[in-house]
Amino acid sequence: MRIYHKSSELKSTVEELKTQNRSIGMVPTMGALHQGHLSLIKQALDENDAVVVSIFVNPTQFNNPEDLEKYPRMLETDVELLKQLSDDIMVFAPSVEDIYGTDVESTSFSYDGLEHEMEGRFRDGHFDGVGTIVKRLFEIAQPDNAYFGEKDFQQLMIIKKLVEKYEIPVNVVGCPIYREDDGLAMSSRNIRLTPAHREASPFIYKTLQAAKVKFGTESAKAVTDWVESEFAANDLLELEYFIIADEQTLKTITEKTNSNTYRGFIAVYAGDVRLIDNIALN
Ligand code: PAF
Repeated sequence: MRIYHKSSELKSTVEELKTQNRSIGMVPTMGALHQGHLSLIKQALDENDAVVVSIFVNPTQFNNPEDLEKYPRMLETDVELLKQLSDDIMVFAPSVEDIYGTDVESTSFSYDGLEHEMEGRFRDGHFDGVGTIVKRLFEIAQPDNAYFGEKDFQQLMIIKKLVEKYEIPVNVVGCPIYREDDGLAMSSRNIRLTPAHREASPFIYKTLQAAKVKFGTESAKAVTDWVESEFAANDLLELEYFIIADEQTLKTITEKTNSNTYRGFIAVYAGDVRLIDNIALN
């Protein structure tokens, strides 16, 4: 397995692969790999001749300095996990300086309004940071296919918009949410949960599933009010938002129509760990 710490080195390997007409799959990550990441990487291995997994905790997408500081970093363990999948994976683990030089700033992007909803309202500048790093990673690794999990559904939609607007020649593939047996969506942040918060956290998906059933017969407002009341009665989990939105525009809906598809989106604090999840409603 080859680990690249410098973008110039990965770029020259990529150029070589391009001259051999070999397809490249990329899975961008911030490390602390779990089964959810591994499922994306397996799919990338199945569908491409070569695969780049980037491991980079991107400072410009954190609006909360404490979250950035506490974000798990475990490159050695990650590399061991990747080796079990394939020795051919190219790991890209650059330094902040390699990516940003001395100017650790994000570019400002417009994603036609997608950035103002949900996470955009609660995490100022987050999607500028995500766009900046993903665009940079695509420039370096030049993937034909790039894989992202639907847990970060808004991020997935925003990356599709980025690619469309900047005419970046990459096929963005969305992959289903990977869950623990008790329903908790897999996330690198889960390892920071206290035992009590870990035990409490399956409540998030259980509530989403019940909300989906209710949405069959009740209005979006009634379902939203119900979810809010469920969390108000939970001592360990603090709801930041639950909204029902149109899957394409990500705008909160007031009325359902038959022609649109909807999703329920949730953000919850379990102690100081922020968890997000979502569910397709039709
Ligand atoms: O989803 C993530 O892990 C990150 O937001 C990403 C896409 C790797 C960009 O840093």
